[in-house]
Amino acid sequence: MSTLLRISLAAVASCALVAARSSVFPDCSGIAHASFSAAFPATFLNVTYYDTGTLNVSGIVNEVSFCEFLVSIRYGKNVSMGAGRSNSLQFALWLPELKYPSRLMALGNGGEAGVINYDDMMDDLNSGLNFAVAAGNAGHLFSDNDAGVGTSLGAPGVYQPYFHDEDQVKAWLHDAISIFTPAAKSLMESYYGYRPRHSYFRSCSTGGAQAFSLAEFHPDLFDGIIAGCPANWFTHLSLAFLWGQQQTKTDATTLPAPVLDFIQASVIKECDLIDGVADNLIENPLACPFNISSLACTAAHHAENITCLTPSQLSAAKALYQGPVRSDSLSTSIFPGYALGSEGGWSLPQVQGAMSNAITIPILQNLVYRNLSYDPSTFNWASDVDFLDSRVGPLIDAVTTNFTSFRKSGKKMIVYAGWADPMISPMWSMQHVEAITKATMGSQTTIAENDFIKLVMVPGGGHCGAQVAKYPYVPAQYGFSSAIVDWVENKTEPVEGIKSWGPTNGENRTRRLCTWPLVAKFKAGGDVDDWESYTCG
Ligand SMILES: *[C@@H]1O[C@H](CO)[C@@H](O)[C@H](O)[C@H]1NC(C)=O
Ligand SMILES: *[C@@H]1O[C@H](CO)[C@@H](O)[C@H](O)[C@H]1NC(C)=O
Ligand SMILES: *[C@@H]1O[C@H](CO)[C@@H](O)[C@H](O)[C@H]1NC(C)=O
Ligand SMILES: *[C@@H]1O[C@H](CO)[C@@H](O)[C@H](O)[C@H]1NC(C)=O
Ligand SMILES: *[C@@H]1O[C@H](CO)[C@@H](O)[C@H](O)[C@H]1NC(C)=O
Ligand SMILES: *[C@@H]1O[C@H](CO)[C@@H](O)[C@H](O)[C@H]1NC(C)=O
Ligand SMILES: *[C@@H]1O[C@H](CO)[C@@H](O)[C@H](O)[C@H]1NC(C)=O
Ligand SMILES: *[C@@H]1O[C@H](CO)[C@@H](O)[C@H](O)[C@H]1NC(C)=O
Ligand SMILES: *[C@@H]1O[C@H](CO)[C@@H](O)[C@H](O)[C@H]1NC(C)=O
Repeated sequence: MSTLLRISLAAVASCALVAARSSVFPDCSGIAHASFSAAFPATFLNVTYYDTGTLNVSGIVNEVSFCEFLVSIRYGKNVSMGAGRSNSLQFALWLPELKYPSRLMALGNGGEAGVINYDDMMDDLNSGLNFAVAAGNAGHLFSDNDAGVGTSLGAPGVYQPYFHDEDQVKAWLHDAISIFTPAAKSLMESYYGYRPRHSYFRSCSTGGAQAFSLAEFHPDLFDGIIAGCPANWFTHLSLAFLWGQQQTKTDATTLPAPVLDFIQASVIKECDLIDGVADNLIENPLACPFNISSLACTAAHHAENITCLTPSQLSAAKALYQGPVRSDSLSTSIFPGYALGSEGGWSLPQVQGAMSNAITIPILQNLVYRNLSYDPSTFNWASDVDFLDSRVGPLIDAVTTNFTSFRKSGKKMIVYAGWADPMISPMWSMQHVEAITKATMGSQTTIAENDFIKLVMVPGGGHCGAQVAKYPYVPAQYGFSSAIVDWVENKTEPVEGIKSWGPTNGENRTRRLCTWPLVAKFKAGGDVDDWESYTCG
């Protein structure tokens, strides 16, 4: 739907409201608190009405009027002990004043959570798809991530309260969405008179892990699920961060930012034209034959003062392309490595160890060894991998591959990954969807034949959107919400592609994203910056 049409619909809705608010939509504050509180261990924190254009979240205002319910719901093993003794999760539910909002869109969390993701709520409220939207804080407070250190994540040596409460750890990646969704559906029923006819979940990264948890542990809650850059093998993903830090930590093995930019530019130079469009973008890195050894320093490089890689730097780069392997079996991958064309983004998260310091070391210290002095350089890449798996895998991983019941009940899932994601290898998404396909539909089945999960690999895509610094010209907004609704409700598989738009440099460029293994093919004669000029083939 065009923005214009959306705005005029919103205007109609809010005009109608002035005349008919009390008869068409109940007064928000009149919603049956008593029956709701009897059915759920929940408390209303506040109920607020927002007229069109009165809530501004990160520069975006609401195009429809809505009621916000902010609710605290108790969960965990102490739930019967009441407030104060049990854990609680806060969630927000936005109920738009649209005539038949028969759809719920629930949204997940990023990183270590602790906050409600209002930005994503606003996107889906304004999407023109008539969603009621809901999101929660995942069951712990932001301040419990770092004991007040002031970052959204942890840091080495810092006590992180929520890692010391098993219910809160399980809520974070496994249960948070299932804790608030039934309550959200019930409030929708009180307000509109019926439950949502279709329910969806969309989120990325930590939220991608929550998406897989829903499919695995709570398959009845949602009809369609969008999982972006999923962190659902959190244990091993954490080890990929530690690996990236360890492999680049010495003066000899470090990969300075200009060297990373040089590698990325060399890759793009060699492979940009394979897809037939000169746009500094590689459609399919797997088709790129780039050999990093071609950048090894030679006498000529030194004489001509050209950037090149020393033997130690070459090994470090190869280790990042490979990902961590077990020390007792070098051919056994612990987690896949990063793709060709992602190098320019490795600097902060990998080489400078930002992800390891914020996530891996805190998890090892708080959750695995429960010793804030634990020294991560002593990590044993064989026995300690097994210990990590057994100690916290059941709390934070969601990697089942048998989706038989999910598939049989007609549920649909879109999984997407950014080819240039420097945090979570896009190859993980591909390997995992492939494994699910085979475990569910038979060992001979390919991803192309999967009829319940579609995988979308985003060329030049970063971690949950733009890889801002290195690919500012790549469209970074994706039409997945509309694609999943079309698939679930119209039975239209998104095989003709999904529109992406909105590069961070402000250019008016759109692209067609395709369901793997299809890739966008340029139709001769078109405008290279218009998604209509591409087909999926
Ligand atoms: C609603 O309650 C929350 C939590 O108590 C508070 O932070 C927020 O300011 C309140 N909002 C309004 C509009 O009253
Ligand atoms: C929303 O708030 C931002 C500042 O956070 C401001 O720059 C922008 O103009 C506001 N937008 C509207 C439509 O009010
Ligand atoms: C849950 O109950 C146990 C046992 O009474 C108690 O030790 C724990 O602190 C309680 N949890 C919370 C979050 O209050
Ligand atoms: C990559 O290049 C190196 C050195 O030029 C060469 O020894 C090696 O065989 C090449 N690898 C592949 C896979 O072509
Ligand atoms: C080598 O090139 C870099 C920039 O690419 C420049 O800063 C440096 O001065 C050059 N060194 C020599 C010896 O020319
Ligand atoms: C915590 O880790 C440090 C550093 O490895 C070690 O010296 C110490 O013994 C450990 N403490 C406990 C209680 O295991
Ligand atoms: C997958 O799960 C279904 C039940 O949901 C079961 O019947 C089937 O045997 C399982 N398949 C495999 C390969 O384990
Ligand atoms: C579902 O199909 C109808 C009829 O073709 C169409 O108007 C609508 O846009 C489709 N829904 C979505 C979300 O694409
Ligand atoms: C952006 O591109 C679309 C078609 O691709 C065109 O209709 C629109 O006018 C363009 N907008 C601007 C601001 O150039």
